[in-house]
Amino acid sequence: MDYQQMRNIDIKNELKKRGLKGYSSLKKALLIEYLSTGIHPLKKSQVSTPAVNIDDTNIILEGPEYVDSLYGIITDDIPVNKIISGDCLDILPSFPDGLFDCCITDPPFNMSKKKGLGWAFSSHVTMQEQWDIFSKDDYFQFTVNWIREVLRVLKTNGNLFIFGSFHCIFTIGFILQNIFDRRIISQIVWYKPNAQPNITCRMFTESTEFIIWAVNNESKKAKNWTFNYENMKSMNRGKQMRNMWEIPLTPKSEKKHGKHPSQKPTAVVNRIILAGSNEGDLILDPFSGTGTTAVVAEMHKRKWIMIEKDETYNQIAKMRIDESTYSLFEDET
Ligand SMILES: C[S@@+](CC[C@H](N)C(=O)[O-])C[C@H]1O[C@@H](n2cnc3c(N)ncnc32)[C@H](O)[C@@H]1O
Repeated sequence: MDYQQMRNIDIKNELKKRGLKGYSSLKKALLIEYLSTGIHPLKKSQVSTPAVNIDDTNIILEGPEYVDSLYGIITDDIPVNKIISGDCLDILPSFPDGLFDCCITDPPFNMSKKKGLGWAFSSHVTMQEQWDIFSKDDYFQFTVNWIREVLRVLKTNGNLFIFGSFHCIFTIGFILQNIFDRRIISQIVWYKPNAQPNITCRMFTESTEFIIWAVNNESKKAKNWTFNYENMKSMNRGKQMRNMWEIPLTPKSEKKHGKHPSQKPTAVVNRIILAGSNEGDLILDPFSGTGTTAVVAEMHKRKWIMIEKDETYNQIAKMRIDESTYSLFEDET
């Protein structure tokens, strides 16, 4: 694989090839291309016959998720505090450069097994989610693709927090450092004191996840990133906050609207949001799941945009966001 080559391809250059200046003319060109060919202008593939009605004053796009994503390209409205249903690789290109102050995300880990391991004596099972199964090469390419787009839509020196387990965190770290030359500020270890037991008894009981905190600039140029040091210190009873956080698994009370196999506890996301963003900031999560990032963003008066391709999870997220209140984390804030 030619890493230098991959690093050099970006959507912006792709679009420059069309000889266009400015975001609006680009959006029009993409729409015209789509209407005349039925080919998704960014994916370069035939997506189906476009379901489009045009009269003198309106253009109405109807159809499945990819149409929504193209609609994003042609509208000037940024869907703030909205969940967008669809594939983030289709939707992210519809956002302008540098839109977001911060991105917090929990992508597929590629840890699911085609045949899950169950345990006769409890309900513990390994993950078997279709969205979490990739070949090694496909996972690498998928991760390069979404990180490239996230870096484009994130402000220069904006914060990027990415969750991962040992299955994927080295790949994600490699891509950030070696392909995109981004500055990694910290790796946070989330220690789960009540992690489920190891079924095979052939290895240590897995009880950690990691969060890479990177800044969106070349490693030598990164500066002025947001870190609310004093906030963190006061949350840690006056002592500097360390990068090892002992926080139990997502409690049942946070799953009352429905289950997700890898829903994160609000307590973990709470620390990230308070440490790495400010009131009024716009936060992106392109793998929103049950919307934990938005739930906590609401509590702390941050703006947000979520992307998630599974409508069932979006329904759970909507119910959680509607219920989210500003006071849940009095003990930590
Ligand atoms: C690890 S989960 C996120 C869970 C989330 N942090 C929560 O607390 O609920 C990853 C999510 O990404 C979604 N997903 C996977 N691939 C996607 C894609 N290409 N675009 C948008 N969503 C995707 C999956 O459906 C899944 O819900």
